[in-house]
Formats: sequence, structure tokens, C-alpha cells
Amino acid sequence: MGFSRGCLGTFVVATMVFFVAQGDPLVPALCIFGDSVVDAGNNNNLYTLVKANFPPYGRDFVTHRPTGRFCNGKLATDFTAEYLGFTSYPPAYLSQDAKGRDLLIGANFASAASGYDDRTADLYRAISLTEQVSNYKEWQNKVVGMVGKARANAIFAGAIHLLSAGSSDFVQNYYINPLLNRPYSPDQFSDILMRSYSTFVQNMYRSGARKIGVTNLPPTGCLPAAITLFGSNSNKCVSRLNRDAVSFNSKLNSTSQDLVNKFPGLKLVVFDIYQPLLDLIINPTDNGFFESRKACCGTGTIETSLLCNARSIGTCSNATQYVFWDGFHPSEACNEKLAQALLAQGFDLIS
Ligand SMILES: *[C@@H]1O[C@H](CO)[C@@H](O)[C@H](O)[C@H]1NC(C)=O
Ligand SMILES: *[C@@H]1O[C@H](CO)[C@@H](O)[C@H](O)[C@H]1NC(C)=O
Repeated sequence: MGFSRGCLGTFVVATMVFFVAQGDPLVPALCIFGDSVVDAGNNNNLYTLVKANFPPYGRDFVTHRPTGRFCNGKLATDFTAEYLGFTSYPPAYLSQDAKGRDLLIGANFASAASGYDDRTADLYRAISLTEQVSNYKEWQNKVVGMVGKARANAIFAGAIHLLSAGSSDFVQNYYINPLLNRPYSPDQFSDILMRSYSTFVQNMYRSGARKIGVTNLPPTGCLPAAITLFGSNSNKCVSRLNRDAVSFNSKLNSTSQDLVNKFPGLKLVVFDIYQPLLDLIINPTDNGFFESRKACCGTGTIETSLLCNARSIGTCSNATQYVFWDGFHPSEACNEKLAQALLAQGFDLIS
């Protein structure tokens, strides 16, 4: 299973690289929204504790420097940008790099500890999804200023917009926040998140976006930190959390179908990362990994953000065979596999 998926991924990547080699990127721009899984440095200058702009984050990145990415190297969206034929990554919108013509390839609006529910971002002083959409509209105005209305509209309609959210809403908010988990069941909380998701898609559509991809929830119960925080017997994925994720994912599918029916010309793809990631976690060796329970950074059981730092004791020397880089986030090697799975599911957004 893992093997055949890997082969498909490799085949698709080879095909894409062939097409891309002939010239321009396959789409005019790439815009990214969501949480720490895709944040490329927007939190660096915020008054938040949720940051990753210090070693050992970034030690395997192209520059071997921390950038604010919650990873040892590239994010899945970095690989996606490469597969689409971009020669640089969409800049973090709040960074120094986000200026002038560099903005024409899109921008990254994501913020670690953000989520569908604006209360999640507020809790950690991150950039809420609502603010991310405002920043996107500001970006659109800058693009119009540079290339004129007609060309700009073609860029917005042709661009791929990726959203990755929901993990922080559950793991860093709902499960630990009595103000949410007393009044709402996981199912009711998912419904609240679905309303934000619908609003997001609607706002993007009204702004001229026509191609949107959204990743579903990973098996949150298998994140090393979730096993430590919410597991009862040490080493096993927390089935309650995984059940909630599967139920959320099925709502995400049906809500997306409703949105596609409602908005003509909208291409909306739900990318399944749940199953590909679960395959890697359950059968790491089939996929070239040896460790899927412990993360590389520190003890590998809990550390993320400030707790994963240059003085963390136990950090592995080589993360390439670890599924997880820190307690919440996949390693670069895992992100590469996930990006291949995304690509295999994303043809609709490219054509
Ligand atoms: C959602 O849809 C995708 C693609 O059709 C499918 O692979 C996945 O299993 C569905 N997920 C759920 C939880 O229904
Ligand atoms: C990590 O290990 C892989 C093989 O598993 C090897 O190809 C790579 O060069 C190593 N990286 C470092 C930084 O030692």
C-alpha cells in the first residue's frame, strides 16, 4: 500500500518535472493560508511564544538557517511550489522579502497556532484566518498596482490557494480549553469550524480566487506530543483524537461538496493527508523511515517551538528517517512524501 502510493507519487513528480522543464510555472501564483504546518515565518515578528526562528529549526533547509518554518527543512508547501515550477517560495507576507515584484508569485499568509476558529489564534496572539484573508486582499491590491486590473484578475483566478488548518483548533485549543470542551462536543466544535471554513471559501471566491485546495486533519492522535498529553498507555496513537479527526474530515468533504455546488467555476479540492501520514506512522520501514513515534527534537515526546531549541537534550543528529521533526510537526523527509501525495490528488487545480 505504502509502496504503491510511493511509486505513484514518484511517477507524478517525474511527469510534472518534465512539463515544468519546458518553461513557466504551471500556475501564475501560489497563496498559502493556515497554521504552523505551512507558516514560513509570519510569526517571527509577532508578540507570540509560538515561533521557530532559532536552531535547530531550519538546520537542513537550503540556507541551513532557521526561517520560522516549524521543520528541520522544507515544508510540504515548499515542495509543492517546486513541483509547480516556481524557482522561489512564496514569501511570508509579514517578512522583509514580501515586497515588489517578488509578490507576483503569491504569498504565504499562514501563522503558527492559527486555525479555523479565530479564538485559537487569539489565544496565542497569532494571525487569525479572518486577518489572513484581509492580508490577502491587501496583497491583491498590491498586485493590481503592479500589473493592472486585467492581468491581476487572471493571476487571482489562475493561482492556487492552499489552506492547512484545524490541528491547532483541536490540539492547542479544544482539548485543553474547558471554555470550548465543556459546552461543545467534538462534533459540535467541528460544525463551528465548518462555518469558518465556508466563510473563508466564500470570501476567497468573492475576491476572485477560483482554485482552492484544503488539507484535511492529520491523525492528530498520533502526533508525538498528543500521545504524551492525551494518551493513557505510552506509545499508542490516541484513538479518541483520531476518531474526532476522521469525523471532522468527513464534514470537510461534505461541506466542500456543498460549496462546489453553490459557487460556479470554483475548483475546490480536499487533500487527504490523514491516510498518507497514517501509513507512514504505521509502516515507517516500508517508506524508508525507522522512527514514527518519537520526534527528532529533544526527547521527541513533547517539544515544539521554544521547547525545541539548541539546548534541547537528545535531539537526533539526522532527521531523514524520522517521520516527525518535533512533537507536532513532520520532518522534511515526511513533508516530501506528503507533497507527493498532494500532487497526485491535485491535478484538478492545475488544469
Ligand atoms: C473524503 O474524500 C476523499 C476523496 O474523495 C476520500 O479519500 C476520503 O476518504 C474522504 N474522507 C472522509 C473522512 O470521508
Ligand atoms: C542522513 O542520513 C541519510 C541516509 O539515511 C544520508 O543520505 C544523509 O546524508 C545524512 N545527512 C546528514 C546531514 O548526515
